[in-house]
Amino acid sequence: MSAPLASILRRTALAAAGAALLVAAAPALAQSPIVIKFSHVVAADTPKGKAAEFFAKRAGELTKGKVKVEVYPNSQLYKDKEEMEALQLGSVQMLAPSLSKFAPLGVREFEVYDLPFIFDNYAELHKVTNGPLGKSLLDKLQPKGITGLAYWDNGLKVFSANKPLKTVADFRGLKMRIQSSKVLDAQMRALGSLPQVMAFSEVYQALQTGVVDGTENPPSNLYTQKMHEVQKYVSISDHGYLGYAVVVNKPFWDKLPADVRKQLEQAMAEATKVANDSALALNNEAIEKVKTSGKSTVYVMTPAERLALKKALMPVHKQMESRIGAETIQSFYKETGFDPAKL
Ligand code: LMR
Repeated sequence: MSAPLASILRRTALAAAGAALLVAAAPALAQSPIVIKFSHVVAADTPKGKAAEFFAKRAGELTKGKVKVEVYPNSQLYKDKEEMEALQLGSVQMLAPSLSKFAPLGVREFEVYDLPFIFDNYAELHKVTNGPLGKSLLDKLQPKGITGLAYWDNGLKVFSANKPLKTVADFRGLKMRIQSSKVLDAQMRALGSLPQVMAFSEVYQALQTGVVDGTENPPSNLYTQKMHEVQKYVSISDHGYLGYAVVVNKPFWDKLPADVRKQLEQAMAEATKVANDSALALNNEAIEKVKTSGKSTVYVMTPAERLALKKALMPVHKQMESRIGAETIQSFYKETGFDPAKL
């Protein structure tokens, strides 16, 4: 099927589903078993893909078959922007979009997670996501008809392009694909690159045909989408974080029988552990697989190169204060111990 036709069909399906939902807020509840459609955009063999499968299995077991979770990976059902609309309309019940994808809903604070070098490792990140700060951000989704259930890790991002990326000057003039985040836009501009927002499902082709020159993602996403086959160089920069909020349609969730909701919360807690315990290893494995593929050269930035990149990107934090909120940024610094003045 051609991409435009697929897109029209998806939009038509979405509109039809939306119309039906004006009549019944949560038809999935009337079914037996209760069906939860869980749509996502990455491959099954990634931290998110594996955790979604695990959640589906445990939800079935813990509810003794009362709930059936159907996982649709790889943008099979919806692309990024459409999946968010589909969730609000109730045509899917569960998603795990990356944290970069929530600002277009009007919850700009989420872009704090995109600030370059805001976390240096998973331990710093977990201080936020496992604590009250992470929860307070999830709570901001409620007025949008969305309930945030958990944070799932992917990992720190690498850059890729058809030239080695070592210094800030190497980025100048490159068209770089980004997710729909103003912080990522500012990050690429600070490097002299030209950011291009694009759905995840379109990135491989855009790299292959030269619509964009490069991109950023954790290694597990790069490898499972075969981006390394169309990018000559991968630079391990660990310059930013990509992770997920697992979210459900709020009317659907609120109307679930209390015992079922509790069992699903249990399944979610276990799936979160699966995601967060496996993410680092999956990303490390992906780097090894890229290396052995021989298709792309993996370069690990030196501490000095990484520091130069960090210094070049720090103005983005200040620049984004008016968008994200200075208090939100400060509360992240406080939680992780990061102090930009000490660079
Ligand atoms: C991207 O669009 O690059 C990522 O958000 C994909 C994902 O869900 O990990």
